[in-house]
Amino acid sequence: MKRFFSLLGVFGLQLILSTSHAATWTFAVAGDDRTDVRATQVDPTGIHTEILAKLMQSVSAAKPAFLLFTGDLVYGDNMRIPQKIAEQFAEWKKLTASNAPGLTILPVRGNHETNGDPEGVAWLQAFEPGMTSNNVSYFPGQKGFSYSYIAPDHPETAVIAVDQYNPAALHKVDLKGLEASLKELKAKGVKNIFVFAHEEAFTAGCHPDADNMAAHPTDRDKFLELLREYGCEYFFVGHDHFYDWMEIKNWRWPSDYALNQIVAGTAGAPFYPDKTYFGGHDGYELVRLDHRQNTYGYLLVTVNDAPKADEKAVSVKFMPLVL
Ligand SMILES: [Fe+2]
Repeated sequence: MKRFFSLLGVFGLQLILSTSHAATWTFAVAGDDRTDVRATQVDPTGIHTEILAKLMQSVSAAKPAFLLFTGDLVYGDNMRIPQKIAEQFAEWKKLTASNAPGLTILPVRGNHETNGDPEGVAWLQAFEPGMTSNNVSYFPGQKGFSYSYIAPDHPETAVIAVDQYNPAALHKVDLKGLEASLKELKAKGVKNIFVFAHEEAFTAGCHPDADNMAAHPTDRDKFLELLREYGCEYFFVGHDHFYDWMEIKNWRWPSDYALNQIVAGTAGAPFYPDKTYFGGHDGYELVRLDHRQNTYGYLLVTVNDAPKADEKAVSVKFMPLVL
């Protein structure tokens, strides 16, 4: 009888373990794998192929539900690169598919995607069919550029990709489209909304204010207010080739709310120096929670669909690439 109860205990424990495991799942975030045109040997594909291949293998082994790609997939047209941007995109798709077979990848444009393709014609041809087949919801008039996506098996989690390279509105996002998307997701009962783009909201250590969303502070602040209003706690970006975690707070915001801007432009592009948080902060309080130089890697986001009182719904970890 005693043995029966102890066996029951083991089964019970297994049941608890498997249930809690089922509630927790992951997705990955990576960006910036362009080649270095100043190197002696420039990769003809516009991609740092060696690192991107290894990174994709590593991401694939972690079995995430999907991968967000935060831009600068390729270098784009350049005197030192024989392939044109459309061919570079084809190489990128081939390389990612062969090193991470079957992985759902949700990309957004970076500034390098406009080198030779300012209107996004080659971009749409390469990536819009894949996005559409993943059932994303496009912002009005933004097919292939800005969209939301709900993970098929996790209806309470959504991601939103915001394009920043409309030729008439560089460094800006479509605020109207974003607000409509946030509203729609909330109406559907989505609890966790993650936003991703290429450029930072605030200078994170390298690209100056003129070269990120801080170029237009009023629009940038409206963007931040929208994220706060809809309870988004994470904004994933690339652009700077290092890993940086910035906590953003404001005296106007509830004291228990903070927005996390996490940069991980570490998928193979040449590393950048760190000049810390220079530039205008427009009254926002910016605190560096974590930072890493000269390390390739990606972010692994763990989502808990049924967190208990003492558990976090979301956690984010930088996963360095072991070479
Ligand atoms: Fe960039």
